[in-house]
Parts: sequence; structure tokens; C-alpha cells
Amino acid sequence: MTDTMLELRNVNVSYSGDITILKDLTIKAQKGRITGVIGPNGAGKSTALKTMYRMLNVGAGDLLYQGETITRIDQTELIRRGIAFVPQNHSIFGGLSVRDNLVLGAWSIRGEKARIRRAIDRVYEIFPMLAEKDNAAAGTLSGGQQRFLEIGRSLMTDPQVILFDEPSAMIAPKYSKQIYQFLTLMRDRGKTILLVDQNVRQCVNVSDHLYVLELGRNKIDCPTAAMNGNAEMTDLISGWIAHKVD
Ligand SMILES: Nc1ncnc2c1ncn2[C@@H]1O[C@H](COP(=O)(O)OP(=O)(O)OP(=O)(O)O)[C@@H](O)[C@H]1O
Ligand SMILES: [Mg+2]
Repeated sequence: MTDTMLELRNVNVSYSGDITILKDLTIKAQKGRITGVIGPNGAGKSTALKTMYRMLNVGAGDLLYQGETITRIDQTELIRRGIAFVPQNHSIFGGLSVRDNLVLGAWSIRGEKARIRRAIDRVYEIFPMLAEKDNAAAGTLSGGQQRFLEIGRSLMTDPQVILFDEPSAMIAPKYSKQIYQFLTLMRDRGKTILLVDQNVRQCVNVSDHLYVLELGRNKIDCPTAAMNGNAEMTDLISGWIAHKVD
């Protein structure tokens, strides 16, 4: 038996008035589990995460955190309660040092110097290569290393829930592998993870539960174990991706 930590419940979301992007979408993330969200380009995966992180307003439906409605709370409060976000678009400040990029992730706890120092140490323990580059300009890091830094930045507030939008996209395989290892480490530490991923094979491998989105709707919602080798699933995704499920 697991607890639902985070939920988008029957939400409709639009960017502008007339086109509804998310349509009656429900996604639940269970405590201490990795919940994967896959789907073709434009399916609404990023929109779902941005909605959960209170970057977009919900037209209909609700957002829930630990059973409590948070549909209209502001983002600062959301972060304070323990939710973090790693966006799809890369967002490192290349001219700032690695450490200063991490400090920026601690904006909501600014002034709490000892806590921020502990948070940096925690990130450096998880990603030792960042410690080696502590004072280097972040722009000198490789693409994969910058992704570690973005992930590290999201950890600065010691979140309980992390929303990841394509954490391993467009980076070298050796870094991508480490990112999936990191995701399972976080799960083993009891964190709740909502993972949007274009890499279907990796997502199926790492997730406990999977949602497949198409055109802003749930197409499939089931435990990952029930999905391996599932013919409906294989048919569905073979239409829109290069990867195979096996
Ligand atoms: N800022 C925006 N303004 C208007 N429409 C948008 C905006 N961002 C996304 N959309 C539209 O919303 C739909 C869903 O986009 P979204 O980025 O959520 O898809 P996605 O599943 O994350 O795709 P991808 O795999 O390419 O990242 C698309 O039709 C897209 O064109
Ligand atoms: Mg996206």
C-alpha cells in the first residue's frame, strides 16, 4: 500500500483562452516511488509538470499535495512545502560559479547560511565532480555536468518531491546513466519522483508506475510491471518513437 503524495486531478489547462492543452488529466505520484510520464512531442508532458509546479493556472480540476488542495497556492509556498522542479529547458547561469548556481537554488532559504552550506555539501556528496568544479564558471562544464548542476540546484531545499522534465535528454550516455542511478538513489531515500521522459526504454526500466499521454489526455495508466511486453503499449509507442519497449 502506498500513499499518494502528489496529484493532478481531472485538470484542464490552457496557455491562451481558446485551446485546452490538458484535458481532464489525472496523474498521481506515490510516496517513495518513481512515476514516469511518457508520450509524443506536444502531448502535454511539460505542461503537466509546469502546472504541478504552479507555473500555469488550472482551468478546471485540482492539484493535491499529501491530500491537501494546493490548486492556487503560490510557488514560494509550494517550494517551502517540499516540491522541486528540474525544467526541460536548460537554465544554468554560465558566467556564475558552480557554487553560486547552487546558492541560487536556495533562494527560498536565503539567509540560512549553515543550512545552505549543508545543502551544498549534500549535493557535492551526490555529484562529486561538481565539488571538483566548485569555483569554476558553470559555462565551462560539459552538457551532462551542467545537467548534474541543475539537478543539484533542485536539491538545495531538501525536497520531498522532485519533478523532472527530461533529465537525461541530449546528454552523453555516461552522464545519462548516472542520472538514472541518481533517480533510483533518491527513491531509495524515500523521495517521490515524477519523471517526464522521452527515453521510453529507460523510463520503463526506472519507473514503478507509468502514464502515457496523448493530446493532453491519459492514454495508459498502469504499474510498469504490467507494461513490459504489453502488446497495446508496444503498438502505441511504436507509432511515435524510435525506441522499443522489447
Ligand atoms: N508557452 C506556450 N504557449 C502556447 N502553447 C504552448 C506553450 N507551450 C506549449 N504549448 C503547446 O502545448 C502543447 C503541449 O506542449 P508540451 O510542451 O507540454 O508538450 P510535451 O509533451 O512536453 O512535448 P515535448 O516532448 O516536445 O517536450 C503543444 O501543442 C504545444 O505547442
Ligand atoms: Mg516537454
